[in-house]
Amino acid sequence: MVDLKQVNQVLQEFNEIVNTKKYRPFDKNKTLKVGVDLGTSSIVLAILDEQNKPIYGSFEYAEVVRDGLVVNYIQAVQIVTKLVHEAEEILGVELTEAATAVPPGTLGNDFKVVSNVLESAGLNVTTVVDEPSAAARLLDLEKGAVIDVGGGTTGISIIEDHTVVKTIDEPTGGTHMSLVLAGYHKVPVPEAELIKRDRSRESETFMIIKPVVDKMANITKQFLETYPIEPLFVVGGASFFDDFSKVFSKYLGKEVLRPDYPQFVTPIGIAIASEKE
Ligand SMILES: Nc1ncnc2c1ncn2[C@@H]1O[C@H](COP(=O)(O)OP(=O)(O)OP(=O)(O)O)[C@@H](O)[C@H]1O
Ligand SMILES: [Mg+2]
Repeated sequence: MVDLKQVNQVLQEFNEIVNTKKYRPFDKNKTLKVGVDLGTSSIVLAILDEQNKPIYGSFEYAEVVRDGLVVNYIQAVQIVTKLVHEAEEILGVELTEAATAVPPGTLGNDFKVVSNVLESAGLNVTTVVDEPSAAARLLDLEKGAVIDVGGGTTGISIIEDHTVVKTIDEPTGGTHMSLVLAGYHKVPVPEAELIKRDRSRESETFMIIKPVVDKMANITKQFLETYPIEPLFVVGGASFFDDFSKVFSKYLGKEVLRPDYPQFVTPIGIAIASEKE
């Protein structure tokens, strides 16, 4: 059974650490678990203690990855290096190893490049997990579906026995919502991006972008008709809207759960997976 209350507590602590740039005091003799998530819209660093409690976290917006592929290697390395150095300075420890993740089905060179980014930033890579499995680690989800609505894509993954057995990736996500919003308000996309995140305009914004959410829910519905499974979780930054999971629940006729601070589920899960097995 997924304990959503406990998951939300971890997410809330992590979010607070990220926003305040403070860290949770920890035992410097014990190993820290480090995760680096190279996403389409940001790079996130997550650091946990042995009990998977958040110690430190940070992120930087970046467009160095597109559809799961690293498109700007040098900038990716620079950002990871910077995030790691900042963390080392604040925590007073050296970080030597980390886990990272790729979208399911990433193969060959595309797979290797992601570890190379970390290695060029001075980190030994303990493991490369796939993103939905990482999310499932934080949720402690043995069986169910993870719907990850990120910047560029929406990935729907079926988890059985803690592993991804089936997945699809659709080229729609938060970026698509921003484009719709930019068109509606006749403003440039970066401005639409800010409007999208403005909580005081949430109900108006959600009405405008709802067709995008409907489309995502519809894709999910079709996929789950072939692979019926429960429970259903939605994660990823673009699912931040209050009514997001309600739209999904209505379409699917099933409960869809969305953890708080859904943009941090995968990064924290990556850090959990960093432990060498
Ligand atoms: N508060 C918010 N309200 C609405 N949308 C948000 C909010 N915060 C982030 N987003 C959107 O979430 C998306 C990024 O989500 P996330 O951080 O999960 O993606 P990513 O991991 O970088 O990308 P991907 O998983 O596609 O590689 C962006 O489109 C961003 O605009
Ligand atoms: Mg992501």
